[in-house]
Amino acid sequence: MIASATPSIGTSPILAVENVHAGYGDVTVLRGVTLEVGPEEVIAVLGANGAGKTTLLRAIAGILTPNQGEIRIFGESTRGVAAHELTRRGIGHVPSGRELFPELSVEDNIMLGALSASRDRRQALRRRVLSLFPAVADLLSRPAGRLSGGEQQMVAIGRALMTDPRILLLDEPSTGLAPKVVSMLFESLGWLIREEGLTVLLVEQNAKLALTIADRAYVLEQGRCDLSGRAADIAGDPRVIAAYLGYGRIVLAGGAGIEPVAEGPPGFEPGTDGL
Ligand SMILES: Nc1ncnc2c1ncn2[C@@H]1O[C@H](COP(=O)(O)OP(=O)(O)OP(=O)(O)O)[C@@H](O)[C@H]1O
Ligand SMILES: [Mg+2]
Repeated sequence: MIASATPSIGTSPILAVENVHAGYGDVTVLRGVTLEVGPEEVIAVLGANGAGKTTLLRAIAGILTPNQGEIRIFGESTRGVAAHELTRRGIGHVPSGRELFPELSVEDNIMLGALSASRDRRQALRRRVLSLFPAVADLLSRPAGRLSGGEQQMVAIGRALMTDPRILLLDEPSTGLAPKVVSMLFESLGWLIREEGLTVLLVEQNAKLALTIADRAYVLEQGRCDLSGRAADIAGDPRVIAAYLGYGRIVLAGGAGIEPVAEGPPGFEPGTDGL
């Protein structure tokens, strides 16, 4: 694909992925991925099934070691750094499929994110998660495996937020959820982004949704991210429309299509609307 001009982020990136090659055994999936995420940016990574989106996030989170290239957090290489240490340095990872401990309670799943924090800090982080996702407060004693998909996704994001991340890696948060649940979830994420300036790297097959919330986007194809640019430009790129958006052009409201939430984070009623 022809590379588009990527606007410079104009400041030191929080995350820099430089010519990363990675895969599984003899299978190479990423073949020279380069991308940057600046402070308070929301970056979408689009790509078809099997393009390597999850592999990219696993490499950034330190679960998978690149064969070649560098990943830097705040300018420092992550090579040889264990995943739990990368969490401490500010990478929050919400994995594909949520990966909660199904037998553990919601409370325990959430608190696992903040094991090393002081008691006061843990409580402050817990209050933040419960104010973002009020419905989770009613589920704390339930085994996580008994929750609906939307509830599980809130708990998975909550667990990652308990690590107080400087950048949140989200792997397909909308997968398997009803449209109404997805829009509530993305309203909460939009609130975090606007009000707290959270930095996000969002992987989504739902390109329309991702481009609605993102500032910039990269398209992962054939193991590389050669097409990138502002979300509005990517949404209008004929190649992206043909491959990911279907016919027609999506309209972004003011560059980021999520409506502002005046009063604060939206709450969810548990057990309703397919949650
Ligand atoms: N543990 C593994 N061992 C071997 N191959 C794997 C493994 N995990 C993924 N792959 C392969 O790597 C390629 C990229 O997979 P990956 O899960 O990163 O894609 P993806 O873009 O996240 O796809 P999806 O949209 O379906 O989530 C695929 O061909 C997949 O079959
Ligand atoms: Mg995936």
